[in-house]
Amino acid sequence: MSTLSDNKRHIGIGVIGCGHWGPNHIRVFSEIAGCQVIACADLNTDRLDRIKSRFAHIETTTHHRAILDDERIDAVVICTPTVTHAAIAGEALRAGKHVLIEKPICIDPVDANVLGELAEDHDRILMVGHIFAFNNGVRKLRDMIHSGELGRVQYLDAVRTNLGPIRGDVNALYDLATHDISIFNYLLDASPVRVTASGRCITQQNIEDVCFATFEYPDGTVGHIHVSWLNPRKVRTLTVIGDEKMAHWDDVNPFDTLRVYDKGIDEHPSYDSFGEFQYMLRSGDVHIPAYQRPEPLIKQAEAFRDSIIRGDVMGPDYRDGMAVARALQAANESMRQAGAPVLIDRTNVSSTLISGAA
Ligand SMILES: NC(=O)c1ccc[n+]([C@@H]2O[C@H](COP(=O)([O-])OP(=O)(O)OC[C@H]3O[C@@H](n4cnc5c(N)ncnc54)[C@H](O)[C@@H]3O)[C@@H](O)[C@H]2O)c1
Repeated sequence: MSTLSDNKRHIGIGVIGCGHWGPNHIRVFSEIAGCQVIACADLNTDRLDRIKSRFAHIETTTHHRAILDDERIDAVVICTPTVTHAAIAGEALRAGKHVLIEKPICIDPVDANVLGELAEDHDRILMVGHIFAFNNGVRKLRDMIHSGELGRVQYLDAVRTNLGPIRGDVNALYDLATHDISIFNYLLDASPVRVTASGRCITQQNIEDVCFATFEYPDGTVGHIHVSWLNPRKVRTLTVIGDEKMAHWDDVNPFDTLRVYDKGIDEHPSYDSFGEFQYMLRSGDVHIPAYQRPEPLIKQAEAFRDSIIRGDVMGPDYRDGMAVARALQAANESMRQAGAPVLIDRTNVSSTLISGAA
């Protein structure tokens, strides 16, 4: 059932946090039909001046509470530093606003659950900005995994590196690996059971600039993640190794972003003893699937709009956010324990995990 009153012609949007990423939300919600960005908030007036110079009609304020008190605003996008997410999202839901919250949903997974309950109590939409659920390359990979084209997935390997931007509120794991964990969960329709992780604090005390984490899934699949904001090259790759085929996705390659390799290892058809057991390397064709590449942020904004109209979350929800927050918390714990394996809390993991983003 729609959570928008019948006589409203558009959904009024407020954007809280207009730093590096917030202006992108302002742009896409200004572009899509059925939404109107009414106002935005940031503590920093320079940032608001920049928004004003580009979107003269959008009102600006240094108090996010002014956005929450504004009756013209039905929904807010929270794009402030991660450590502030839980408090601002809680206030927004209590004020009766629908919420699209940037990744990661929050630091403490318990807060994710509280936000989910608040959304339910107030009959509001709470969607989490796991943007790669709206990336058609990732969706294509998911289709290939689910159709069985790649065979059984043995392992995944993700790399997300660049030189900066360096954050002061969270480490590279929270900043960058959030994306890869949400992608793994989305591809595998599962959340991880255990993690081992290590990292190094190089530019700041107690904030890791580089992290390596290995997540184990319930069926034994492993997913390895290397993230860093102290690296000369911008790399965003994901390799999926199936026992039939292998796929490599390179998000910064504008041409053949996704390649599917008919490569693998077959058992030799005839051998008489264990000593003669042999493998045959199979190196077949490389296929580059064609698919449309709409801007994921626009698809995410449209899904949020449609969720509000339908009254049902049509994208990653708080449970997806909570699964990622739990995985991050456990990986962080493993880093603190010099790479010891840490079990990941999976209580109340829904069987419809990552059900959205259809
Ligand atoms: N989906 C993606 O690909 C993607 C990309 C970049 C960032 N993000 C996420 O977006 C969020 C913001 O990242 P960023 O790079 O824009 O950070 P940023 O530090 O550049 O911007 C955050 C802004 O929030 C403002 N702010 C802080 N507290 C506020 C408050 N109470 N009210 C109003 N404004 C407040 C700050 O002044 C700052 O301008 C983070 O959660 C980050 O993880 C997502």
